Amino acid sequence: MSRTVLTFGTFDVFHVGHLRVIERAAQQGDRLVVGVSSDALNLSKKGREPVFSQAERLAIVAALKPVDEVFVEESLELKRHYIETYAADVLVMGDDWAGRFDEFEDICEVVYLPRTPAISTTALIEKISAGTF
Ligand code: CTP
Repeated sequence: MSRTVLTFGTFDVFHVGHLRVIERAAQQGDRLVVGVSSDALNLSKKGREPVFSQAERLAIVAALKPVDEVFVEESLELKRHYIETYAADVLVMGDDWAGRFDEFEDICEVVYLPRTPAISTTALIEKISAGTF
């Protein structure tokens, strides 16, 4: 039987850490669905507007070879709803969230993957703004 994997993220200023987590998430099953945080969710979560709009971020993630389907994640509180809607067998999150989603182990497998070291969207924006690149 086919295994559906679900993962989430903002994927703003797309970088190799994003690519690696998507590639490794896809290896956990047969079909990869990605929830991309809405602009409003990103603003409330990170306190700033994303550099690229949700439509642009969705288009970038949807174009990746390992990605089968994308949708806009409107709220952090809707994880259970999304797991059920997309019939996910596995929820994959970066290990910056380790333990935070264990409550969903009643309906799917929950896997935390190590982050790619030394790169993040926030660090990239700060370096570019400071002119230290
Ligand atoms: N991610 C990763 N390795 C990195 C950066 C991100 O594996 N170096 C993963 C995160 O764990 C998450 C996904 O990529 O599963 C999307 O993360 P996101 O928050 O969009 O990216 P960040 O670069 O962490 O963004 P920010 O600095 O704004 O928090």
